[in-house]
Amino acid sequence: MKSMTRVALITSGGDCQGLNAAIRGIGKALYHKLDNIEIFGMYDGYRGLVDSDYVFMSEMSFSGILTQGGTILGTSRLDYIPGKDIIDENGNSLIPAMKDTYNRLGLDCLIIMGGNGTQKSAKLIMDAGMNVITLPKTIDNDIFGTDTTFGFQSAVDIATNVIDYIHTTASSHGRIFVVELMGRDAGWLTLSAGISSGADAILIPEIPYDVNSVAAMIEARKKAGKNFSIVACAEGAVPKDEEKLSEEESRRKREASIYPTVSYKLAADLKELTGHDTRVTIPGHYQRGGPPCPRDRELATRFGVEAANLIINKQYGRMVALKGDVITSIPLEEAASKTKFLPVDHPLIQMARDLGICMGD
Ligand code: F6P
Repeated sequence: MKSMTRVALITSGGDCQGLNAAIRGIGKALYHKLDNIEIFGMYDGYRGLVDSDYVFMSEMSFSGILTQGGTILGTSRLDYIPGKDIIDENGNSLIPAMKDTYNRLGLDCLIIMGGNGTQKSAKLIMDAGMNVITLPKTIDNDIFGTDTTFGFQSAVDIATNVIDYIHTTASSHGRIFVVELMGRDAGWLTLSAGISSGADAILIPEIPYDVNSVAAMIEARKKAGKNFSIVACAEGAVPKDEEKLSEEESRRKREASIYPTVSYKLAADLKELTGHDTRVTIPGHYQRGGPPCPRDRELATRFGVEAANLIINKQYGRMVALKGDVITSIPLEEAASKTKFLPVDHPLIQMARDLGICMGD
């Protein structure tokens, strides 16, 4: 009789669309391809692994969840010291408790679905002697080593739809709208949604913006008879005069500001410079909610099935990835080594410039 394979599934960090599709892809493929398989689902991300809070997942657990948003397992964020440890609020290491659950359940591998932070903490778990396979999920699309993450396209669809709707009211009233989209560090979502919705300016963290060039674009549109303008602004966009500040200085500046987010400051500055009536719209976590779009259902399923194949072949320590149109995998240490920022010479940025979209510089 073939030996039993035991794995545990974990969804960690901020949720996104497609997590349940990925869970389903892993579970269905493992049950389909292996005779002896036990799958556990850890509740609320790493917390379940730390507290031994889990559920046994039968074949039935993977039915009827393809189209559901969020994650049926729940998720959470944990603190980690980069390259060193995963810790609780008192600074104590959580890795021994994780290892305890792992050993007690006799696990062969953890399958961890997460964003940038999760790839880094998964690498720490691997270094502590547990087998790990990861899947790249995030609406930010900023995980190194994969062309796309699941969750990204669904968020682009929602953000595009928000700007489409804003267009009609902006045009009726002749107003400037600043639409703030998610993305603290990387501008993939804002760039893609901005281009797809016909935004007039696109401001991303990778290109510090000068408010005067945004104002000049608005004035130019006014002269051309266009009475409204739409600025797609990433939550992590930085004004040029703050570009050189350290992380600590930026944090203090933000805390001292009368504006709750970058978009409110930008809107106030644009009103002062142009005299135009200006509004801010922030869809926020709405961008991460609801069912995955078909493209994310497909991508998450493909990633899930690839993760199952890695388990079957005992190829641990890898993150599944999309390269071109091919699903593959890369060493986890590579995926965890850096963030995939949007290159400032990316063809889409050049295309946006060619179209006359203001990139803020
Ligand atoms: O990483 C995904 C993301 O949605 C970012 O775009 C955003 O900055 C952040 O998570 C929000 O985090 P939280 O869910 O903790 O508010």
